[in-house]
Amino acid sequence: MTSVHLDTSSHLDATAAADVLALAGRAADADGVDAISEAFRLALTSARAEVSHVAAYAAQSRLVGYAALDAAGSAELVVDPDARRQGVGRALVRTLFASQQVAKGVWAHGDLPAARALAAAEGLVSTRELHVMARVVAPGDDVDPVLPEGFSVRAFEPGRDEQAWLEVNGLAFASHPEQGSITLQDLQDRMAQDWFDPAGLLLVEDTTVTAADGNHPLAASHWTKREPGSSTGEVYVVGVHPAYQGRGLAGPLTGLGTAHLARQGVDAIDLYVDGDNTRALATYRRAGFEDAAIHVVYGRPSAP
Ligand SMILES: CC(C)(COP(=O)(O)OP(=O)(O)OC[C@H]1O[C@@H](n2cnc3c(N)ncnc32)[C@H](O)[C@@H]1OP(=O)(O)O)[C@@H](O)C(=O)NCCC(=O)NCCS
Repeated sequence: MTSVHLDTSSHLDATAAADVLALAGRAADADGVDAISEAFRLALTSARAEVSHVAAYAAQSRLVGYAALDAAGSAELVVDPDARRQGVGRALVRTLFASQQVAKGVWAHGDLPAARALAAAEGLVSTRELHVMARVVAPGDDVDPVLPEGFSVRAFEPGRDEQAWLEVNGLAFASHPEQGSITLQDLQDRMAQDWFDPAGLLLVEDTTVTAADGNHPLAASHWTKREPGSSTGEVYVVGVHPAYQGRGLAGPLTGLGTAHLARQGVDAIDLYVDGDNTRALATYRRAGFEDAAIHVVYGRPSAP
């Protein structure tokens, strides 16, 4: 193995951050998938980010690998395509897991054969699988499906619907590692993004019940996302209040969002769903989505 020096720090200077981005770019070209996700990419240059960076240097201080660990215990790592099969990945994995802070594990975006092999060689197992599913938009997709009797749909109104949406989201995603803990601030951060469009955040209400303030209870919602100018849309967050699950809402709810995106003129729609969410996987397969990629978290066999 090449002699590699590992340098762990809580902050990267601008040159080191640029070197990491260049390395990640070369790896993405070689692998066809980004090893470093958007959150870790932003953390490279943000002073606020609570991320621990591990840079692997070969002779003449040449950066050959990089790993990062966030405060929640998730890590990512990448080795320069020119420096692979020389023990760099193994050294980074061992350093990450030696810190005892990798509570969740290491993301392997695209679950590439090399990542699978490295994980197996280090005794790590898949602890979470995130599926990317996709479908093309076909003629007729722009027509809204019919909701079950007693439900109607309307668009989210900023300033009116935040609390109800947060409550249903929290209940629908109670066991989800990220989505279930979204706060008002998180919601407002997303609403401030240039892609946010209240018309694409669809609320399904139970019209058989009317509260004193005239509102109907929120039963479910489908938040769609489309970056400005993009020809691809996303099924961003779909949630049904537990009290309304099992009443046939999931299919039409999915269709309302895909119809909205189709009317926006997108050619294709994708989504992310956890591999153990069998009901959601089945709903999306029925709606014509197929597996496009898989992201795997590798952790210790005992990891939750
Ligand atoms: C996965 C990755 C980090 C491996 O880095 P690396 O420095 O080439 O890995 P190492 O040289 O330390 O390999 C350690 C062991 O992993 C296994 N391994 C790594 N790459 C392999 C490959 N392409 N084929 C088969 N086995 C492989 C082998 O058992 C290897 O030991 P050996 O060389 O003695 O046989 C690198 O390919 C990469 O950056 N991929 C893209 C990003 C990614 O998938 N990150 C997630 C990692 S969990």
